[in-house]
Order: sequence, then C-alpha cells, then structure tokens
Amino acid sequence: MRLVRSIGCARRAVSELQHPRVLVPTMGALHRGHVALLEKARKIARRRSGSVLVSIFINPAQFGPGEDFTRYPRTLASDLAICRAADVALVFAPSAQAMYDPHRSTGITETALSRGLCGASRPGHFPGVCTVVAKLFHILSPDAALFGEKDWQQLAIIRRMVADLDFPVEVLSAPTVREADGLAFSSRNAYLPTEERALAPGVYAALRKAAAEAPTPASAAKLARKLIGKIPGARIDYVEGVDAATLTPTQRVDRPARLAAAVYFGTTRLIDNIPFPTPKP
Ligand code: PAJ
Repeated sequence: MRLVRSIGCARRAVSELQHPRVLVPTMGALHRGHVALLEKARKIARRRSGSVLVSIFINPAQFGPGEDFTRYPRTLASDLAICRAADVALVFAPSAQAMYDPHRSTGITETALSRGLCGASRPGHFPGVCTVVAKLFHILSPDAALFGEKDWQQLAIIRRMVADLDFPVEVLSAPTVREADGLAFSSRNAYLPTEERALAPGVYAALRKAAAEAPTPASAAKLARKLIGKIPGARIDYVEGVDAATLTPTQRVDRPARLAAAVYFGTTRLIDNIPFPTPKP
C-alpha cells in the first residue's frame, strides 16, 4: 500500500494502478461503516483485477464557522492499518495547504438537492463537499467511487454533480452500518458522553417505529418528531419524510422515500435516515 500526500505524487501513483480504480473518499477516523465501503470497493475492483484508492482528508471547506473542524478525530496511524488490512492500493492523505490555494475563488454549488435537510442548517456544507469531491475525482481519476447511504443527501448531490458535469465516474453506494443497538457508526459518535451515547440509538428506534406505523412519509416524520422529542436531551434539527430522489417532503407512497433526521445531543449533531416504507427484515 502506498501513502501519498501531494497532488503530484498522487497523480503519478494513480497512473501506475490497474483499472478499474475504485475510490472511497473519507475524512478518516475510520469505523465499520467505512470498512464496509472498503470491502465493497475491493469486491468491485477485484472482479476485474483493479485497485482500491482511499482519500483521507478532513475538508475544512465543508465545516461551518463554530462547527467541529478543530476537534474532528484525527487517527491517521490506525486509519492506515485499517486500509492496509483491507488491501487498499493507494491512500491519498493531503494537507489542507496541499489541497487549497489561499487565493482560491472557484467552487461547485449544487442548487436544488442541497436546499433542504442538512443544507438548510449547514449553508456552506454541500458546496464544500461538492468542491472537494470534484477535486478528488480530478486528482485520482477513479472509474468508480463509493459513498454511504448514511449520508443520503450527500449521495444524491454527488450523483447529480457527476451527471451534470459529466464526470466519467460511476457513483456506487452501500447501506448504513450500525452498532448492535442501532446507532449508525459515525466518527462523531466519539464525542458522545456515556449518557448521551446510551440515548442516541433512540433516534433510529423512533424512525423505525414511525415508518412502521404511519401511512405516508410526511406523517411518519410527524410521528418521529413526537417520539424523538421525548428522548431526554435530544434537540431536533430536522425530521423529514422526503422523496428519495428529489429530497422534497412528500405524502406519496408510490415512489421511494426516506425518513431522515438530524438531532443534537449536547453539541454533537447526529444524522440518520431509513427507507420508507421500511423493508421487512
Ligand atoms: P466521512 O464522514 O468520513 O464518510 C466517508 C464515507 O463513509 C461517506 O460516503 C459516508 O456516507 C460513509 N459512511 C459514514 N458512516 C457510515 C455508516 N455508518 N455506514 C455506511 N457508510 C458510512 O462523508 C464524508 O466523509 C465527506 O463528506 C467526504 C465525502 C469524504 C467529502 O469530504
């Protein structure tokens, strides 16, 4: 496995790798959700003797003022061990200076899917995500890139960007990986003190119950809001039942929908989403 830190080295190293090149973009602090993406990437790459690439970059451009950029977990040594064990061919872990010119004035903004949900409460977030993912695609020229359904809005926006701007990259996804108690793995779970960690799975439980009991996505959101409101210490940012493709609130039951939530525990903001209707186990 090679570790490269500059854009020039990354381009040179990539040119030596076999196609298909499958990229898993991350911000590090790798957990079992990331590992599932790495395993899926390996399966796809292996089928045609290709290579898995991972980027590890805590992208300052996608954090708002006062958000957790400075305290975001930085665990490069263990991340590299995880990548090595997953048979990754190349890790690109640039510094912020390597990625961003101080005078930069160009970025990518998706203007429809980014409006609601996380985009409403984190205004610069998706422009920051789109810009860095576009840069990673240019630098690493992957044939395919893998994203998690945990960040459903991010996945939809990246698909849109790739289609709108003709990136020659196939966007693939993998389902959310959860702890035994239902909490979705997230690098931000590390912020939760014991008591909040114990309460956090209540959000997923509420989404599941609401999706099972309510007749439409919008009514499920209303019920989930009520249930999450009862979790001690939980402060709702949003709970919405949205069309899975357009991400707008919907009552329709004839199209795939998602029940999505962002909830604060103290200063920690957790997001989750499930399909509506929820498939029977
Ligand atoms: P990060 O939060 O590190 O997530 C990297 C990838 O892992 C994303 O595609 C995310 O959806 C996926 N992921 C996170 N938790 C998961 C879980 N529990 N189950 C399955 N997949 C999970 O998302 C980002 O980084 C950044 O925004 C990035 C795309 C790298 C751009 O900076």
